[in-house]
Amino acid sequence: MVDSHADSSYWHPFAAMGAVRRSELVISRADDVWVWDDAGTRYFDATASLWCVNVGHGRREIADAVHRQMLEVATYQTFGDIINPPVRELTARLAALAPMPGAKVFLGSGGGDGIDTAAKLAREYFVRTGEPGRTVLISRTNAYHGTHGFGTALAGMPPNHIAGPWIPDTATVAHDDAEALEAEIARLGADRVAAFFCEPVIGAGGVLPPAPGYIERTREICERHGVLFVADAVICGFGRLGTWFGIERFGVVPDLIVFAKGITSGYQPLGGVVVHERIAAPFWDEPGAAPFRHGATYAGHPAAAAAALANLDILDGEGLLKRADELEGELLGALQTFADHPLVGEVRGGTGVLGALGIDPERLAADPGLPAKIAAAVRSRGALVRPMGSAVAFSPALTTRPEHLEVLVDALRGGLDAVAAG
Ligand SMILES: Cc1ncc(COP(=O)(O)O)c(C=O)c1O
Repeated sequence: MVDSHADSSYWHPFAAMGAVRRSELVISRADDVWVWDDAGTRYFDATASLWCVNVGHGRREIADAVHRQMLEVATYQTFGDIINPPVRELTARLAALAPMPGAKVFLGSGGGDGIDTAAKLAREYFVRTGEPGRTVLISRTNAYHGTHGFGTALAGMPPNHIAGPWIPDTATVAHDDAEALEAEIARLGADRVAAFFCEPVIGAGGVLPPAPGYIERTREICERHGVLFVADAVICGFGRLGTWFGIERFGVVPDLIVFAKGITSGYQPLGGVVVHERIAAPFWDEPGAAPFRHGATYAGHPAAAAAALANLDILDGEGLLKRADELEGELLGALQTFADHPLVGEVRGGTGVLGALGIDPERLAADPGLPAKIAAAVRSRGALVRPMGSAVAFSPALTTRPEHLEVLVDALRGGLDAVAAG
């Protein structure tokens, strides 16, 4: 067993290392909706790791597919004309599932590098189509687009901008007001704006479903001003909103979709961008068109693609997108049990298998550490939940059953009551 109180050498993401360095939780086993620490304590994984283990843990089919692929060809680059069978199959399958016609698919290793790809692609599209002045990228308050360069600049969370400014040609609009986007485009001049980045449901920024009509209206505004609409489906894709890319739920066709997480249910690092054929055209249609000078060593990684194919087979074969439709109501119902709890200001959810308990603003002002305290108290009662700035979030696997939610409700009740009692 690891001595988790001995000083660690691992620098954890988004962690106060001064506190964490001698106090780690060592996860050493996982199966379906459960994880175990190395002392053998079992927890309900109410966050599916970081919003991503959509098919649940311990899927032998995915492990076997990766194993088989690694014995065939474990890794090979895909620059120039080189490809491998699983990447060819996966990208064809994603293009067929995508809501845009003739889609092309660029691959990377996760969501943040997908955002960088989308940002560079959007700007270069306009260079190639004779509007090089379109450089500004617009995002929303509370947005989270990862921690690569562009994602950091586009974050709608001011604390993520420490040591910035990162990228000058960016702007932020209110996340819940489509007219704010129209006004910002007018202020900047449409001929300066390249793209609008939009999470169908804001995740890390608080689990904020869009107001009715918001997505449709912002899509229409982008279309009218020639601004590319980039759906960041990193959390929302692969069943979490009950559809393949999340955005179809709103009946709009985006120009670009960034995906990651649920594409492999987190079993292998993979992400990418689905590109509308109209946006791909200046790069694809002329044999003499210059290459898009972008891509990483692990773009088109065969073992990651094999994991994705096996994961898509499970999502499809077990009807998990349909199951997500039922689970979204079950999760919201479970959380609504706490609507009157003194620590809870607001219950959020109902659009996908995503939920949050917003902490009562007065209680939070008096103690900004409440989300972390609640998460710790819930953990000690057998469930892992995600503390955020002003809320505690939930995004369990799509295999979650009502009896699992009962475990969550019990742990939440115990945790919330203990923290409320001080
Ligand atoms: C909406 C969204 N976009 C992008 C990212 C970044 O993805 P990654 O952590 O794989 O770089 C995340 C991560 O949580 C996300 O939630």
